[in-house]
Amino acid sequence: MTQVFINGATDAANVREHDSLDASIQELIRAAAEARNHAYCPYSNFAVGAAIRTSDGSIYTGCNIENGAYAVSICAERTAAVKALSEGKRQFVACAVVAQQDNGFTTPCGVCRQFLAEFASNGRDIALYAAKPTNLPLRVLCTSVLQLLPNGFSLSSSK
Ligand code: THU
Repeated sequence: MTQVFINGATDAANVREHDSLDASIQELIRAAAEARNHAYCPYSNFAVGAAIRTSDGSIYTGCNIENGAYAVSICAERTAAVKALSEGKRQFVACAVVAQQDNGFTTPCGVCRQFLAEFASNGRDIALYAAKPTNLPLRVLCTSVLQLLPNGFSLSSSK
């Protein structure tokens, strides 16, 4: 079995061929790839696009937006999330992330994992698809926010 390097872990089980995924997932990945074209990342030169599917079927996209005061920068995932939230959409069912990372897939940072987990539809989980904009045939890491953030903090679960 081919082992695939994913941010320090070996996990071939969750990597799928893009063409084998549902059309709605392919659409979400495409939306993330398009949003990546708007990334403002002159400091890292690392462009990221994200797309979030909300429970009503809508898609909200985002890119990373950096700032000369580095800490002020925002990741693509939170850009997409705040766009959805500010339009009244609080139920996230899936998120796609697209970036060109040579060694493995780009998955959300810890802050974004925590931020997204808050808005899992019906308190369940959010499917997470990580892909690259090039490197055909395209392969996709299929995971979830809760897989990436096990035992994360939640006020609702702490009651
Ligand atoms: N970044 C994202 O936007 N999303 C991720 O999942 C990983 C990192 C951004 C933050 C920063 O602008 C650049 O990528 C390099 O870390």
